[in-house]
Amino acid sequence: MDDLRDKYISAISSASDEVALEELRLQAVGKKGEVSLKMRELGKMTPEERQVVGPALNALKDEINSALSAKKAALADAALNERLKTEWLDVTLPMRERRVGTIHPVSQVSEEVTAIFADMGFAVAEGPQIESDWYNFDALNIPGHHPARAEMDTFYTHRKEGDNRPPHVLRTHTSPVQIRSMEAQGAPIRVICPGRVYRADYDQTHTPMFHQVEGLAIDTDISMANLKWVLEEFCRAFFEVDGVELRFRASHFPFTEPSAEVDIRCSWEGGTLKLGEGDDWLEILGSGMVHPKVLEAGGIDPAKYQGFAFGMGIDRIAMLKYGIPDLRAFFDSDLRWLRHYGFAALDQPSLQGGLSV
Ligand code: PHE
Repeated sequence: MDDLRDKYISAISSASDEVALEELRLQAVGKKGEVSLKMRELGKMTPEERQVVGPALNALKDEINSALSAKKAALADAALNERLKTEWLDVTLPMRERRVGTIHPVSQVSEEVTAIFADMGFAVAEGPQIESDWYNFDALNIPGHHPARAEMDTFYTHRKEGDNRPPHVLRTHTSPVQIRSMEAQGAPIRVICPGRVYRADYDQTHTPMFHQVEGLAIDTDISMANLKWVLEEFCRAFFEVDGVELRFRASHFPFTEPSAEVDIRCSWEGGTLKLGEGDDWLEILGSGMVHPKVLEAGGIDPAKYQGFAFGMGIDRIAMLKYGIPDLRAFFDSDLRWLRHYGFAALDQPSLQGGLSV
């Protein structure tokens, strides 16, 4: 009996899996197992012998059974530990960042522009996108017969049959906000007016809706020199590129006198846009000294006050700064484009914290 015990207890303890364990159970305590066969021999024994051997055999059977179930539990534990090792997950690792939407380049650039001009003391003013032709044209010294009206490819609204008042227009520029600001606050003024404008035009650099930002400064001692300084200061801060080169070109607008258009040096080589190099010039804004008739239309005395104004294409400067080749894609709502050119939400552009980091 001691031999049987030694044999099975040690075999059980070194069994490597449940199959081997079951095999041992059958060999020892199964119907035809060694211990069971021994029990059958009890019948041939004398009552005295039986009294000694019977309990001993039962005890052996119990011992083997409990060794089997202890080993079975140990094998299950080991298997679980093995699984835990491979399925282990470190919940303290930092999470993977997942962007929820992006900020459109037009929004980003509008905020950058606003931050730079705010630093120079300009407030933000707004006006309606559906505008009367007085604000969009007449008040800006563009009378009814003026060729500038035709040049601008204006979208007109319809009037009812028999209503002979001039139709409203989708504003063709942000300049009407000059007049609205003069009316609302009088002189002195320093505002920028960002917003949507509309012209019937469509190609790689023109869309029927686009964005401008108007600038207007009016006071008793404003000159063209202030205009030039403000624009150069702006471009240096905005483009964040050494050697941005501007070209002031004499021009004409009905609402400024004198007038200048400003171009920026760039290259389109290989279909990618680069600033400060190349032989191309991209017009980014129109500007000049506010025409006395415009000041008058806005209720400001031109004998006492002068000012400068400019109108700049927000989409244009976004294309230049971020190397975006086709304006039309701005307004296609293509999610791949937005993910590529968009900006992380919650990064507010500021001169201190960085404009476009
Ligand atoms: N309104 C002009 C345009 O849309 C730009 C401009 C604004 C020019 C202010 C001079 C002064 O092209």
